[in-house]
Amino acid sequence: MSGAALAKAHVSAADPDRRAWVAWAISRLEADVNRSADTHLIKLDLPRAPGISLYLKDESSHPTGSLKHRLARSLFLYALCNGWVGPETTIVESSSGSTAISEAYFAKLLGLRFIAVMPRTTAREKIAAIEFHGGKPHLVDRGDVSGEAEKLAREIGGHFMDQFTYAERATDWRGNNNIAESMFAQLSHEDRPVPDWVVCGAGTGGTSATIGRYIRYRKFPTSLCVADPESSVFHRHYAERSVHRVECCDSVIEGIGRAKVEASFVPDLVDRMIAVPDAASIAAARMTSALLGRACGGSTGTNVWACLKIIEEMKAAGQEGTIVTLLCDSGERYRSTIFNDAWLAERGLDLADPHARLEAVFRRGLSELCSAAEEADCALRDAWLTPSSSSHEGCLWE
Ligand SMILES: Cc1ncc(COP(=O)(O)O)c(C=O)c1O
Repeated sequence: MSGAALAKAHVSAADPDRRAWVAWAISRLEADVNRSADTHLIKLDLPRAPGISLYLKDESSHPTGSLKHRLARSLFLYALCNGWVGPETTIVESSSGSTAISEAYFAKLLGLRFIAVMPRTTAREKIAAIEFHGGKPHLVDRGDVSGEAEKLAREIGGHFMDQFTYAERATDWRGNNNIAESMFAQLSHEDRPVPDWVVCGAGTGGTSATIGRYIRYRKFPTSLCVADPESSVFHRHYAERSVHRVECCDSVIEGIGRAKVEASFVPDLVDRMIAVPDAASIAAARMTSALLGRACGGSTGTNVWACLKIIEEMKAAGQEGTIVTLLCDSGERYRSTIFNDAWLAERGLDLADPHARLEAVFRRGLSELCSAAEEADCALRDAWLTPSSSSHEGCLWE
């Protein structure tokens, strides 16, 4: 039976037709991943920190543009193999946008309806991307977005995917080209093939759980650092396990930081947490964008700021070593927010101080970049970096 014909059949979980559809759906997911190459590992020069290497695992190069592509695929496979999803199932998810974009892509691939329950404040570029992939946004005022998604799924008889519960268990942490296996394999030909630190953020906590388990399983001495927005509960919970909630997490960095400790966050796998102010995340996102010549999202900036802190400490202690972090998604998704100076000014976000601290580690690299570049390219670089610039028209993404 063809996928389309199977998708029309309404059957129970044990029904052979439904089993055949599940087999077809899994084959489609396997064929899809087989058409993709792995994401890149990019080395950033640190001329002011000799002996320290910094790498970015570029998860923006997935077909749906973020690290959530891996998670969405794992969640679909998990739901299919658990018998939770059939050809008539509507998928419902709670998301800050990135997971929903990736799930919309996979739902479309399998011919399933998809509804994304998201905060009303979600960047409009992300909402447009969900609609592009055929998903239906369902915007709610901040509060219990997951509760809303669960309720909606119940009402319509759909399946609540629930990334915040299942992220840590849906991914095969032993391997299967998970993010950790991929980055360690890509480092294997470098001068220092085993990193001292891996730095990532936590939204569900799934990525940090996968990396933390993989490090232990492969017996690497690597430490795991989670970079967390200042207003998030995760670092408070890490310091004091009885803290499970803050009144609100008002960070403007989308995708990471939560008001409630989610089931998928596993603090025992984390060696260190660094709290990052939003202005520092945005300044670091702009600095990284300038270094790469393309825009990176805010959570990438949070990661890079935490790396900067570790680099400063290593430098001060006279240590050499390697740090790997994640380029989570493209800044294209945040043109109207963190790359818009008027938007920053409205929120009182001043990038001057973090910008100066970043320059102390990254600047010479930029100067060298600029001396080799045309005058116009320097203007582009300044457009990414200068906090007072009023717009980014004419930048690389235009
Ligand atoms: C852009 C972005 N970066 C990082 C993360 C954190 O990843 P995880 O959910 O695996 O903790 C998310 C989560 O939604 C995200 O959207």
